[in-house]
Amino acid sequence: MPPMTSEPKIDTRSYRDLVGRFATGVTVVTVNDAGTYRAMTANSFTSVSLDPLLVLVCVTRDASMHDPIHEAGTFAVNLLSAGQRPISELFARRGELTEPMGGVPFRIGGTGSPLIDEALGWFECEVWREYDGGDHTIFIGRVVDMELAGPTREPLLFFGGRYRTIAPDS
Ligand SMILES: Cc1cc2nc3c(=O)[nH]c(=O)nc-3n(C[C@H](O)[C@H](O)[C@H](O)COP(=O)(O)O)c2cc1C
Repeated sequence: MPPMTSEPKIDTRSYRDLVGRFATGVTVVTVNDAGTYRAMTANSFTSVSLDPLLVLVCVTRDASMHDPIHEAGTFAVNLLSAGQRPISELFARRGELTEPMGGVPFRIGGTGSPLIDEALGWFECEVWREYDGGDHTIFIGRVVDMELAGPTREPLLFFGGRYRTIAPDS
């Protein structure tokens, strides 16, 4: 194999433009940080394994929930529905929330993590492994509970740096 060049001549803007062409759903990752609920919009969610049931999410090291996920050892992934763009925008903003979960309706799951009302569904996870992902940490979660809450609800999508919804069948 040819040796890897140590400094690829790719700028961050070009990288973001291309990676943004990969269409995804939108999730909100939540954690119970010793009684304080934290939530972060994330589209790095991926299903990983069926046996055991594993999912992953990549969390930037400077996110306020980064260390709490490690400390709590549990988190939840809420799959957002089409009408939940304001929730995605709320939890993509940096900074502390003035009220629990910013006033977004939720309930608490078995892991203690917030589960957002009207989502498509939730995965509740125990941290299975943590891997170095550069300026992110890759948290692999073992799914300990889940619910398909709205089988007929439409998803919120993200593509090209913009929110989308599925176009109706023609
Ligand atoms: C659509 C979308 C997807 C995002 N996906 C991720 C992600 O997968 N991982 C991540 O660390 N940040 C992601 N972000 C950025 C975080 O939501 C944002 O940095 C976060 O709210 C940090 O705020 P905090 O540090 O105050 O908690 C995403 C933002 C948007 C709008």
